[in-house]
Order: sequence, then structure tokens, then C-alpha cells
Amino acid sequence: MTIDLHKWISADREALMALCNAVDRTYLSDRLPYPYTEADADWWLGMVTENDGKEGVWRAIVVDGQVVGSISVERMANENRSVGSIGYMILTPFWSQGIGTEAVRQICGIAFRELALERIIGEVFPENLASARVLEKNGFRMGNTQMLN
Ligand SMILES: CC(C)(COP(=O)(O)OP(=O)(O)OC[C@H]1O[C@@H](n2cnc3c(N)ncnc32)[C@H](O)[C@@H]1OP(=O)(O)O)[C@@H](O)C(=O)NCCC(=O)NCCS
Repeated sequence: MTIDLHKWISADREALMALCNAVDRTYLSDRLPYPYTEADADWWLGMVTENDGKEGVWRAIVVDGQVVGSISVERMANENRSVGSIGYMILTPFWSQGIGTEAVRQICGIAFRELALERIIGEVFPENLASARVLEKNGFRMGNTQMLN
């Protein structure tokens, strides 16, 4: 199995829509629209293309050539601009195969390098044990409310 992170391109629109409409939303932010429309995908792909390497890094998680998830580190605002916030989602059939752990490893390297960050944080619902575990396996430590790397 190959696990790669690819920059999003406009040709990923269908895969992005399929991902966002199918992903398990139990622990995801309400910011992700549902249903996820072509207009949502076009807006997001444009935002990512414009801001990548500046305000964040956004990547498709690609397993054996297929887009199975999304992962990003976004620069925080104001006095916290040297801090990045990580987020990710993977289609349920691909869980528990080490994909999340490897994707977090890769995106942290990209984010530290491209955004010159001092720190990356992850905000995880306490019940989301798989997500907390993925961060722990990448060296994040539990803070008061956040996972810190
Ligand atoms: C969180 C998520 C990305 C994990 O991806 P993944 O590819 O399944 O992660 P991995 O296979 O690399 O590792 C999962 C780890 O969690 C563990 N795990 C899975 N389910 C668990 C559970 N219910 N309780 C405790 N541990 C659990 C696995 O055993 C594994 O740890 P191990 O290697 O020590 O055995 C995936 O579940 C997901 O997309 N969830 C929905 C979106 C989401 O929650 N995003 C994060 C928001 S903060």
C-alpha cells in the first residue's frame, strides 16, 4: 500500500465531493457543509490553491492512487501565526490501517518546512480516541484542551 499526500487540483473536484458527502461526521466541525455541493468544492479548491504555503498546507490523502481523505495544517490568527492547527478526515473503509498516522507524519513535515511554524496543535473531542491516538503516535502530547506537537 502506498500512502501519499498530493496537492489538491481542480481535477479532484468529484473525489472531494464524494469524500465530503460520505465521511463520518461524528467528530467533525460544522464548518464542513452537508450536502457538499459542486459550488462548495469549487470554492474550497480555489481557497486552497490561493493560500497553500502561506496560510496553511492542504493535501489529499491518496492510497494506491485513490483519494481517501483530506488533511491540513492551517496557520492560526494574530499573535499565534507561528502556530498551526491540524485537521484530517479519512473515509471509513480505510480506517485502522495506519493511514491517518502516516498522513499526520507527512503533513507535519510539510507544514513545519513550508510555513516555518514553531508548533502544531490538534483539537480533538475527548471521545475521539482514534484521532488522539494518531496524534500521540506522532509525538503530540495532551495539553489542557489540545494535543500539542
Ligand atoms: C481519526 C482518523 C483520521 C484515524 O485514521 P486511521 O487511518 O484509522 O488511523 P490509524 O489507523 O493510523 O491509527 C488509528 C489508531 O487508533 C486506534 N483506534 C481506532 N479506533 C479506536 C477506538 N475506538 N478506541 C481506541 N483506539 C482506537 C487504532 O487501534 C490505532 O492505534 P494503534 O496503531 O495504536 O493500534 C479516522 O478515524 C477519521 O477520519 N475519523 C473521522 C474524522 C475525524 O475524526 N477527524 C479528526 C478530527 S480531530
